[in-house]
Amino acid sequence: MDISNKKLFKQQCFINGEWIDSEDNQVLEVNNPATQDILGTIPNCGKNETKIAILAAEKSWTNWKSKTAKERSGILKKWFKLIEENHEDLSKIMTFEQGKSINESRAEITYGASFVEWYAEECRRVYGDTIPDILEDRRTIVIKQPVGVVGAITPWNFPSSMITRKCAPALAVGCPVIIKPASQTPYSALALAALAEEAGFPKGTINVITGSAKDIGFELSTNPIVRKLSFTGSTEIGKILLKQCSSSVKKVSMELGGHAPFIVFEDAEIDAAVDGAMLSKFRNSGQTCVCANRIYVHEKIYDEFIDKFTKKVNKIKVGNGMEETTISGPLIDQYSLKKVQEHIDDAVNTGAKIATGGKLHSLGGTFFQPTILINVTKKAKITYEETFGPVAPIYKFSSEKEVIEMANDSPYGLASYFYSRDIGKIWRVAEALEYGIVGINTGIISKAETPFGGIKESGLGREGSRYGLDDFLEIKYINIAGI
Ligand code: SIN
Repeated sequence: MDISNKKLFKQQCFINGEWIDSEDNQVLEVNNPATQDILGTIPNCGKNETKIAILAAEKSWTNWKSKTAKERSGILKKWFKLIEENHEDLSKIMTFEQGKSINESRAEITYGASFVEWYAEECRRVYGDTIPDILEDRRTIVIKQPVGVVGAITPWNFPSSMITRKCAPALAVGCPVIIKPASQTPYSALALAALAEEAGFPKGTINVITGSAKDIGFELSTNPIVRKLSFTGSTEIGKILLKQCSSSVKKVSMELGGHAPFIVFEDAEIDAAVDGAMLSKFRNSGQTCVCANRIYVHEKIYDEFIDKFTKKVNKIKVGNGMEETTISGPLIDQYSLKKVQEHIDDAVNTGAKIATGGKLHSLGGTFFQPTILINVTKKAKITYEETFGPVAPIYKFSSEKEVIEMANDSPYGLASYFYSRDIGKIWRVAEALEYGIVGINTGIISKAETPFGGIKESGLGREGSRYGLDDFLEIKYINIAGI
């Protein structure tokens, strides 16, 4: 791997402060989705190695939670500084293994680091409460304590920031973590662990284990020592993990699938809406759970919006993410490519037209043409299922009531977006959308300071912001009598 700090490229797991292989020395290969070159290998660990990591985390807990918030904050700040110092190498590692453009990787490293910085500050403000008691001789206080060992299962689409978004708050309040990164993108996780080691986290506080998602996921979700499981991934896998977590009644955070509506009202600033749709839809080649999946445009501005949007989409440069001018990289694998093609074919068979794109890109592999579908109908699969690719389906609507009904007609409830300049409509629509996140006149809603999370089948809990700390804390009520 062409990076300057070679110490960041680790091909072993990090457990109990040591770099180790799997028990039977089995490995998995990791490839570059842009070239199909093998980048290296990772240990193919399973249940036994996970148990070892869980015991190491448990052992480290007593020491880690008893540090002052200021001490933990200091170590997190060092980690943040090291991430900043190695920013370019971390960005390159991400593009090599994930495929996204180098500029998007740079933005993700900055985004990911912001969680470490923010929680290093916020952990010093984990306040309790006092409650006036009903009895004269009694006093009541509420304190917050770390939940315990945390399992964090993270996805391939954001290989760095989904780790810091879970682990920074957990570590900041005193919980040790065991990270299971996606097998397609383990090197970003291992590089973060290398920097955490350098920052001085005590051994066992941060562990990264690679290998079988099924076996590691099973152990993390059923072992009673793990008190909290935080997962980002599909709703399908989230439901399995939720069931498994119920055996030991764990606290859970689930960041699952999304199917974001993106509504452009007749009073919207059309150019701004086009720019917002570009950012929301084509970030990471459409492989985000918050990207616009259904673009609803008012009939009065439908043609103008499509015309302007198509011109911009046609300018997207698809290519190897390592080229500075690339905007859109490849899809992660053949499975994703197949799903994208299937959604397009199905939409066309149910009445939609392709305004641009629609096919495999001339670069081959898993590169796909940025695509716009118009006149999409309710019958199309894409109207209900998450595509996770660079396809923008556009629907026409004529009234506020109609579009709210269409937007809410989904089992998902993660992100939603709309464009309008009418203040009354802004309040009405923001309150009516059944989503955990509403972006108004913007296509980008993610930041460390704000609560990211969904309702309905999009998940449970929140990440980022002060609400994200609560997901790693237990509330204890203390009642003192005989005062
Ligand atoms: C995701 O798609 O999984 C996360 C996107 C974000 O944090 O913006």
